[in-house]
Order: sequence, then C-alpha cells, then structure tokens
Amino acid sequence: MERAKNLEQTYHTTVEIIIAELSRTEEMKKVEERIKSLDRLDILINNAGYWEPGFLWERSPNSLEAMIMVHNVAPVRFIRAALPRMLQRDKGDIINVSSIGAYFNMVTMENYGATKTYLISFTESLHVALMGTGIRLQALAPGLTVTEFHSRLGADFTKEQRRWMKPEEVVDKSLRALEKVQVLCIPGFRRRLLVKFASALPRPIYYKVMKFIGEKVKKRWDEIEKA
Ligand SMILES: NC(=O)c1ccc[n+]([C@@H]2O[C@H](COP(=O)([O-])OP(=O)(O)OC[C@H]3O[C@@H](n4cnc5c(N)ncnc54)[C@H](OP(=O)(O)O)[C@@H]3O)[C@@H](O)[C@H]2O)c1
Repeated sequence: MERAKNLEQTYHTTVEIIIAELSRTEEMKKVEERIKSLDRLDILINNAGYWEPGFLWERSPNSLEAMIMVHNVAPVRFIRAALPRMLQRDKGDIINVSSIGAYFNMVTMENYGATKTYLISFTESLHVALMGTGIRLQALAPGLTVTEFHSRLGADFTKEQRRWMKPEEVVDKSLRALEKVQVLCIPGFRRRLLVKFASALPRPIYYKVMKFIGEKVKKRWDEIEKA
C-alpha cells in the first residue's frame, strides 16, 4: 500500500492494488473481472512469474500446475478479458513477459521454459490475428535481470549481477520496441546473439550443451540450498 501511495504522489495518478495469488482460480478471476469492468485499458502487462530450482520429477504435481496457471492461464484469461474493449476502441498495448529461458531447454527449466515458450507463441499468433487493428502486442524475453527473482529464492548473486541487466534498461528497451511494433523483444545484443547461436546448433549438440549447462546451474542451486 505504501508503494501505491508513493506512485500516486510521484506521478499524480490513482493506483489500485489487487492482491491475488494467480495460481488460484478464484483469485485470478478477481483480476479478470476487474479488467472486464474497465471502460478503458491502455496497456496490459502480464509480468507475474517465478522459477523453482530442482528436477521436475522432484516437484509436486500441484506446484507444476501452479506455474502453468500463473505464466499461461492467467495471461490468456486477462487478455481475453481485455480484448473486447480494446477492439472497440481500436487501441491498446499488451506485453507478455516471457524469458530468454524459452530458448534454452536446460535441466531444471523444463516447465518454466515451456511456459515461457507458450507465451511467445501465443503473443505472435495473436499479433498475426490482430494485424491491421490498433492493438500492439509484445513478447518480452529478458535475460538475467537484477530483480527479486533470484534473491527471493535465497540466492546471493551480487558478484554475477554486475553483468546482468537492470530492470530500467529492460523496460526502456521493451517500450522502445513496442513503439516500433517489434513483436518479439529480447533486450541486449549479446543475449540476442546467444539465442541465435543456440538455435543454429545441430539439435544433438544443442541437447548436450543444454544438459551440461543445466547441470552446472543445478549444482550451483544445490550449494545455495545447502548453505
Ligand atoms: N529476473 C530475471 O532474471 C528474469 C529473466 C527472465 C524473465 N524474467 C521474468 O520477468 C517477470 C518478472 O519477474 P522479476 O524478474 O521482476 O522477478 P520478481 O522481482 O520476483 O517479481 C515477480 C513478480 O511476479 C509476482 N508473482 C510471482 N508469483 C506470483 C503468483 N503466484 N501470483 C501472483 N503474482 C505472482 C510477484 O508478486 P509478489 O511480489 O507479490 O510475490 C512479483 O510482482 C517474470 O515473469 C519472470 O519470469 C525474469
């Protein structure tokens, strides 16, 4: 609530906060209904997301389903709720926050990466369907960014974070790309190069590289969990 007050004072605007656990249908529907009730919605950003370290087969089926609810079901429902009014006004922006992880099928990223791939595919298909209207879509696929994403899992990446992007940079690049109606936005030249390189590898080599890197990441997280 303090954040809302700060935003209101800084930007002379009105802020409404709806607290919702998006893996729960009833709470997701609270947000969905609020979206439907809006006379005007200029921009919808589906940003909520998280990652869980560990092997897929060690996670509970419910936690796997929860991630799909938050990353995919909620955005689809929110967009469906927003579109009729946006179409009526012939205006509106939609940004779905995916991840560069969509391009790297690494160990521990199976469910996370797949949900983020879904978001990219969904956004691009919707863009094609809505071409010629005033509705602009973007799938934003950032790489490592300094937020609470990792720290909330108890990890301290202070040293590595010097090379990570700042959220302000990611937002800036995303909004510039939106202006250019660039549907897929991967902020950062090096990250785009990395995606191109990984996609160009022959699949059997790509799988071996993903297994190797994924296992290194997994080992690092195991050490963090033990500490
Ligand atoms: N940081 C990175 O390196 C990175 C890289 C690629 C993609 N991304 C993507 O960027 C997006 C934003 O993450 P971030 O980096 O800003 O991390 P963050 O600081 O941890 O923020 C995540 C946001 O998602 C919300 N959220 C998480 N689980 C939720 C749930 N079950 N129900 C409702 N809200 C939920 C959190 O709400 P609360 O604060 O209330 O928990 C928070 O607002 C995510 O979709 C993430 O996958 C991040």
